Amino acid sequence: MLNIGQLEDFPDNQAVNLDYDEQAFIVMRRKDAVYVYENRCPHRGIRLEWQTNQLMDIEKQFIQCATHGALFKPETGVCIAGPCRHQSLRACQTSIQDHQVYILIS
Ligand code: FES
Repeated sequence: MLNIGQLEDFPDNQAVNLDYDEQAFIVMRRKDAVYVYENRCPHRGIRLEWQTNQLMDIEKQFIQCATHGALFKPETGVCIAGPCRHQSLRACQTSIQDHQVYILIS
């Protein structure tokens, strides 16, 4: 498991970029939960952001593809609107222990 920082390092209700060892991830915190996805759209295989840490729609309800506007649910990674509707971002296994956030990467 890879330690990616303390829970408090991640702003609440925001998604941020995490690049590690040539792998790109999206880290989404909602209160005491953290969701981590590979930063790759299921239909084109490209990164979602238009600028670093700009990964959400304007209301900060969904993770958004900057190129096509597709919306993904933060808690599941499922696309609810856009060209990859019903497909999902690939989730990474996460755990939080003593406020430290870990992800399992392969
Ligand atoms: S690359 Fe798939 S929705 Fe934009």
